[in-house]
Amino acid sequence: MNPPPLAPPHSSFTPKVAILGAGIIGLAVAFELAIKRGVPVTIYDPAPMGRGASWAAAGMLAPAFEAAAEEGVHPHLFDLCMEGAELWPDFSIDLAHAADAESGYSGRPSLALAFDMAETAAMHKLARALDARGIAHEELPPGTAHLLEPSLAPDLVAALQMPTDGQVDNRAVVRALIMALQRSPLATLRSEAAPLRSVGGRLSLEGHDLILAAAGWSTAAIKVEENGERLSLVNWDPALDEIDCYGGQMLSVAHGYGSPETTLRCGTIYIAPKADRVIIGATVEPGVATEAPEPAAISALLARAARLCPVLADLPIIETWAGIRPGTRDRAPLIGETAVPGLYVASGHFRNGILLAPITARIIADMMLGKPMSELHQSFSPSRIGAVA
Ligand code: GLY
Repeated sequence: MNPPPLAPPHSSFTPKVAILGAGIIGLAVAFELAIKRGVPVTIYDPAPMGRGASWAAAGMLAPAFEAAAEEGVHPHLFDLCMEGAELWPDFSIDLAHAADAESGYSGRPSLALAFDMAETAAMHKLARALDARGIAHEELPPGTAHLLEPSLAPDLVAALQMPTDGQVDNRAVVRALIMALQRSPLATLRSEAAPLRSVGGRLSLEGHDLILAAAGWSTAAIKVEENGERLSLVNWDPALDEIDCYGGQMLSVAHGYGSPETTLRCGTIYIAPKADRVIIGATVEPGVATEAPEPAAISALLARAARLCPVLADLPIIETWAGIRPGTRDRAPLIGETAVPGLYVASGHFRNGILLAPITARIIADMMLGKPMSELHQSFSPSRIGAVA
């Protein structure tokens, strides 16, 4: 017998939702559905919950630095990133109430730094992009930047203060999301792969009406059983093949006397101070899916970070690691219903998974509950992939 079709979203009944993947995206969607909207959810993940890219991240909420001046990306990526950043203050308050735990949210502005002519040119390009979009920012002379962040190296040439770019402690956020969901009578967390099956080409997951695929870089490879065979979800929607892996290596050092307090950016290097550590990142390695950091890459990151803040060279290293970002060609996530009715995707957030978690959760919940969609949100649908091809 064929399984019943997955329920259409535009109905008045409350769907039961299965979420495949317990990274920050899957957990944030579960939080939005179960805790804010009263929708029952089951979250499946055979890997340790919240320990993939969400754990590896640096927690920067950086629409300006990550998206304002990027070329060749989705035309509305910056707008989505700005909307995402605006949701974070309330999201962190709601999360703190639900979990009795802090997320380390800080609205303290980040600084983009320049130490030579090329970096100054890149900084001015970013400033012009922000001007064109009417986004607040301020170029600071080196003396003012040193007053704000005394750990900066003396040969600083220029700095750009970006009030849009705050931060959270990403590890605290995923811990709090898991705690909040464990407390919710409407959420079930299962440490196993979802028993997804297909009969006659139709997908089903017993006890659920709608499914969200949110397994980061391995979303396309989620397994489906069909006639005793294990196939991958990409066979149902080839757009999922768009999600590729981008390795990133990083380290953290202990706080010490005079260590930085501000999130600092310069080219591909960032320094993101948290309450209990200072994170330094990151490489971006297309096609690399390893979680093993290389000593040479870590030493190079530390040396480049110490060029910005010399004190970092003398602080004890706490941890080194490598994470795997899920990315797409237009550097924007796939958010929306797939080619399979009732199967949604939220993945491919590349460098902005933490920033975009609350807005992704809101979009997916609105879609699943049949609420009207803005053109901006619709533009991140996975159907754009087929349209471009
Ligand atoms: N968002 C910073 C990174 O992906 O390295």
